Amino acid sequence: MWNVPHLPFIPEQASTFAVEYDLIYWTIMALTIFFTVATCAAIAYFVAKYHHGSNADRSNPPATNHALEIAWSVIPLLMALVIFAWNAEMYVKMRVPPKNAMNIFVVGKQWMWHLQHPNGVRENNRLTVPIGVPIKLTMISQDVLHSFYVPQFRVKQDVIPGRYTMLWFEASKIGTYNLFCTEYCGTQHSEMGGYVRVVSQADYAKWLANGGDDSLPNATPVELGKAIWDRYSCGNCHGVKDTERGPSLIGMYGRKREFTDGTSAEADQVYVRDAVLYPYRKILKGYEQTMPEYSDLLNEDQVIQLSLYMKTMGETAKPAANTPAQGTNR
Ligand code: CUA
Repeated sequence: MWNVPHLPFIPEQASTFAVEYDLIYWTIMALTIFFTVATCAAIAYFVAKYHHGSNADRSNPPATNHALEIAWSVIPLLMALVIFAWNAEMYVKMRVPPKNAMNIFVVGKQWMWHLQHPNGVRENNRLTVPIGVPIKLTMISQDVLHSFYVPQFRVKQDVIPGRYTMLWFEASKIGTYNLFCTEYCGTQHSEMGGYVRVVSQADYAKWLANGGDDSLPNATPVELGKAIWDRYSCGNCHGVKDTERGPSLIGMYGRKREFTDGTSAEADQVYVRDAVLYPYRKILKGYEQTMPEYSDLLNEDQVIQLSLYMKTMGETAKPAANTPAQGTNR
């Protein structure tokens, strides 16, 4: 539904930090390259000129040269101090959020991001923010170390159990950007992420007022169900094929589901409702309890919409009858 950008070598500049941040980065990079090349060139020159047996003039070798020695001490010192001061200024700017910043809460857990807006609107693995407004994220982890990283904003901050950490930014460009977990946090670390969606202030206000729903005028229950599916990133775990992350739900309706406690049931609407709201009750054979509960997030209307959408997933891509998906009977 949303077009999450492929991350190029140099990410887009989409926050107010990005331009200065990149300038610092490329300045240090340019100085490093300049001195590396200059040093190597000097080595090569002297090797060529004074190699054993060359007839270079070796009379009167200089023992000391104060001007040169002072220059190669003082000039790099001044350069390092300028870079230090510039970076320190940038660091302080990035660590001190403006007083009027909007507060959004972030909870990291294995392996997703939960975000909550000031009026209670929640998102999973997606953060919707208005352009041109300072946003302060107050973050905590429910289990292990995670790290919240938006490359296009040039911001990154560890998310730690038992302690709030802070990150702020102001988006400067409407668009969709990457959200990564950038601290190894377990098996599915690499898939823990989503995107940040920057919208206009008017669209954000409208979106918040609608309770965060992706507004779909005159939408059918199936379309609303798809919006819920996308909003909670169900497809991250339930893809076209069974994976260790989660079983595929395509063509699941009407099939027999076998559970870890030895019982089984036909996948119907009642089963889907229980599986969405209370996933710990019946665990599909071959899986562990990793799916989060949605009993606090979805109301009954939404569960119905979601289950109706899941049904259509089977109709658009129906596997051959009586063919168990991916080897096991799920
Ligand atoms: Cu969470 Cu890596």
